[in-house]
Amino acid sequence: MTTLDASLSGSFAIGGDLNVNRLGFGAMRITGKGIWGPPEDHDEAIRVLKRLPELNVDFIDTAESYGPYISEDLIAEALAPYSQGTIVATKSGLTRTGPDEWHQVGRPEFLRQGVMTSLRRLKLERLDLWQLHRIDAKVPRTDQFEVIAAMQKEGLIRHVGLSEVSVADIEEASKYFKVATVQNLYNFANRKSEAVLDYCEKNGIGFIPWFPLAGGDLVEGHEGAKAILQKHNASGSQIALAWLLKRSPVMLPIPGTGKVKHLDDNVAAAAVKLSDEDFATLDAIGRR
Ligand SMILES: NC(=O)c1ccc[n+]([C@@H]2O[C@H](COP(=O)([O-])OP(=O)(O)OC[C@H]3O[C@@H](n4cnc5c(N)ncnc54)[C@H](OP(=O)(O)O)[C@@H]3O)[C@@H](O)[C@H]2O)c1
Repeated sequence: MTTLDASLSGSFAIGGDLNVNRLGFGAMRITGKGIWGPPEDHDEAIRVLKRLPELNVDFIDTAESYGPYISEDLIAEALAPYSQGTIVATKSGLTRTGPDEWHQVGRPEFLRQGVMTSLRRLKLERLDLWQLHRIDAKVPRTDQFEVIAAMQKEGLIRHVGLSEVSVADIEEASKYFKVATVQNLYNFANRKSEAVLDYCEKNGIGFIPWFPLAGGDLVEGHEGAKAILQKHNASGSQIALAWLLKRSPVMLPIPGTGKVKHLDDNVAAAAVKLSDEDFATLDAIGRR
């Protein structure tokens, strides 16, 4: 029988003091099409969320803009009051004008509104990890970073994360607050953020790769990967997740789904342990 236990992925201390199992859950896919409105099947979305503690998934990533608001509302409906150790990480900094439409807003009053309303929706008194969804190019960076630092000082936020940033961005933001996590697009087949990942590893910053399952098809269809799939009796997506987990001890993948079956499939990847040789073979395939 397959072992379903996210703790097999190992743990990481976000900001040095917030322990989570490394294989987490992305809550963007429990909304409607185009990440807009309620999910097609509300009860299944609730079942997915309620299954998380059963699988030892204690790190949940969301954002006020998912739905908007729907993802946070569902998380609170299913899980609040949260079991001990469950971390809900959220974000602000993007506003929505329709399905698949996302716009950056980094004005300090908008970021503060994001934090205040996320606290209300998630039924929390402090956000353990709050992430700036994007640094807004239209707003002075100082304004964005200063309000974040202020909200952390006020105790509204425990740890701060950034999303879609460069090493230079992280270094600049670090003058205002400690950067606990970085969330960038990264997966088996997309390594554009390799330098950022290396920087995070060196500096003890959690690296949250979004779109982590992409590349699963590549693993599945590749002649050179066949033996690895068979050896582990695993799917391409599971191998793509196992590869991420082995890539770095600061890696915190957050595969997202609105289906219990897919959640179970993804958590099974925590039990897949790739050898150094498997890792190197896959690494070369992914790079190509
Ligand atoms: N910071 C950012 O800018 C940013 C951007 C995008 C996403 N994110 C975060 O990253 C998380 C993950 O990213 P993502 O959702 O785009 O990508 P992902 O987790 O790599 O892939 C999700 C997609 O794969 C499907 N899927 C999941 N598990 C599956 C399985 N076992 N078998 C078959 N299909 C499966 C899902 O559909 P089903 O629902 O049908 O399973 C969904 O369409 C999001 O939930 C969100 O929290 C952040």
